[in-house]
Amino acid sequence: MRIELPREVERLGAVRFGGLQKVFELDSGLKGPPTDEQFSTMYQIPYEALYEIEKDMAIIVPVRNERLKLVEGVLCGIPHPCLIIVVSNSQRQPVDRFTMEKDSLETYCRFVKKHALIAHQKDPLLAKAFQEAGYTSILRQNGEIRDGKAEGMIVGTILAWLAGKKYVGFVDADNYFPGSVEEYIREYAAGFVISRSPYAMVRIAWHSKPKIAESKLFFRKWGRTSANTNRLLNRLISYYHGFETELIKTGNAGEHALTVDLARYLDYSAGYSIEPYHIINLIEKFGGINESPFPDVMKDGVEIFQIESRNPHLHEAGDKEHVNEMSYVAMQVIYHSPVCPERLKREILREMVLRKFLSTKEKPPRPHRFPALTSIKAESFLKNIASAPYERLITEGLL
Ligand code: GDD
Ligand code: MG
Repeated sequence: MRIELPREVERLGAVRFGGLQKVFELDSGLKGPPTDEQFSTMYQIPYEALYEIEKDMAIIVPVRNERLKLVEGVLCGIPHPCLIIVVSNSQRQPVDRFTMEKDSLETYCRFVKKHALIAHQKDPLLAKAFQEAGYTSILRQNGEIRDGKAEGMIVGTILAWLAGKKYVGFVDADNYFPGSVEEYIREYAAGFVISRSPYAMVRIAWHSKPKIAESKLFFRKWGRTSANTNRLLNRLISYYHGFETELIKTGNAGEHALTVDLARYLDYSAGYSIEPYHIINLIEKFGGINESPFPDVMKDGVEIFQIESRNPHLHEAGDKEHVNEMSYVAMQVIYHSPVCPERLKREILREMVLRKFLSTKEKPPRPHRFPALTSIKAESFLKNIASAPYERLITEGLL
């Protein structure tokens, strides 16, 4: 892969936000002759380097009632060296969609000769493992694991960590183009090759999202949710710098990856608010505004890479209500952050009222939050899931 250096960088305390990086070649071949790095504006990342990262990477696929054909396409886009972890919250009745997903994954694994891991978010055994490991914020009052994409991602992250992986990446299960899944994962790996800190995150900005407009294909750049979330996150950074910035382009990036070291230190926010909350929580914890609970991370710094993918992104379209909900929860996590200045809070409230998410007298709720995974008693968690019957968890390295 050949990828440009970020042209701009914004620093906030120990967090280094890189500007959008373009990909010039999806495949740049084997290791080339040495170049004068000092004046180079481009990284050439050879196959070997991508492979070295991919073999230490788990790819988590959160699934809820997606069409099986789409899920199968996504699996086939995942590079062979990566460990696949499917976390499903699909229905079990009247049709057991989870069993269908499990069968399909098993067949896939048999044909491609690799192991994978699949878990159901509502598996009582997983809930018990969380309970006994002291991570109860993920449980509902009835003892079940909560619904939600973030909740599934947390389950997957813990499994990746326990399987000894160094990197964890996420790809949605409703993607129509296996080739774009492959591209995102190569870009995650490229970001980690470039990164100099053990605490790094790669976020993908889609090059375009195809839509049909007046019987023609139109390749849209920014959705309304992303545009709004990015604008507010940029306003937040501008406030602290005193210079206006438009650097953040991936406020809602569902396609993203982290080093497991960083994933364990972050707090999480429920459902679709997880991605904007990554940025907020990084600023809260490592932005130098409040004292950091993890001073070691402050020494190494946190690097955020934003990479613009080349494939168009085509997925199952959500309805207007779903898109509005995503925008609303993104605003909620920014609004409720202790680092959000009063001026920005007022602007967010105005926007919420204008878009009829709130009446003038109401205050927005705060999405449910989950503390950093460092608080989980790993041995206890592992002991509990180790008793899972083989057909529930097809594992690599866990059992
Ligand atoms: N395990 C699990 N549990 N998976 C879930 C759940 C759940 O409760 N809810 C949804 N998913 C899965 C879906 O099946 C899909 O694979 C993925 O999570 C994303 O959900 P979508 O409902 O397809 O989200 P979206 O397409 O509207 O939004 C995506 O893109 C946004 C950026 O534009 C998501 O990735 C968002 O998180 C992201 O902000
Ligand atoms: Mg989707």
